[in-house]
Amino acid sequence: MVTRNRIIAYTSIHHGNTRRVAEVLADSLEAIAVDASALTARDVDGASLIGFGSGIFFGKHHQAVLACAEKCRNSNDTKAFIFSTAGFPYALARAFGSDFHKDLRRLLVSGGFHIEGEFSCRGHDTYGLLRPIGGIAKGHPNADDIEKAKAFALRLMNPA
Ligand SMILES: Cc1cc2nc3c(=O)[nH]c(=O)nc-3n(C[C@H](O)[C@H](O)[C@H](O)COP(=O)(O)O)c2cc1C
Repeated sequence: MVTRNRIIAYTSIHHGNTRRVAEVLADSLEAIAVDASALTARDVDGASLIGFGSGIFFGKHHQAVLACAEKCRNSNDTKAFIFSTAGFPYALARAFGSDFHKDLRRLLVSGGFHIEGEFSCRGHDTYGLLRPIGGIAKGHPNADDIEKAKAFALRLMNPA
């Protein structure tokens, strides 16, 4: 059972990209980073803050994170946030009508969570046809992405 009051629930299966971000967020927020598939609804009870994140797979978060969000209910004024890593820039995809965070956001909102913030950065992607060319977003998350993740955590702790 997870006992820390701030939890980062994440899945990272492709290159460990999201794990790097999850660990930085956990450090900055004094939270515990846990595998989303191991998190139970009971663990969430009493948490003050939970972040949910993974890589983006076919336009949405990994199934393990979506399943985790689906079973979590906000019974204690728990704050939630969303994060992701993706081969393509989130803002650009969103501007073109593909919102990678949409499904996870919908599940969390229907579980009664208020979304305090959302963070996304690029993550090295070598899926399928991208592999022979070395993939895209090579080197990401990079130092700049990590600094942005830290700044995001700081804003979560000290909202304007
Ligand atoms: C099967 C598969 C599907 C993917 N689909 C997308 C996608 O739809 N959009 C995108 O921007 N990146 C996509 N990616 C890239 C991953 O989101 C990216 O590499 C992410 O950083 C992986 O995170 P992880 O290493 O923590 O698992 C895909 C990668 C794989 C392996």
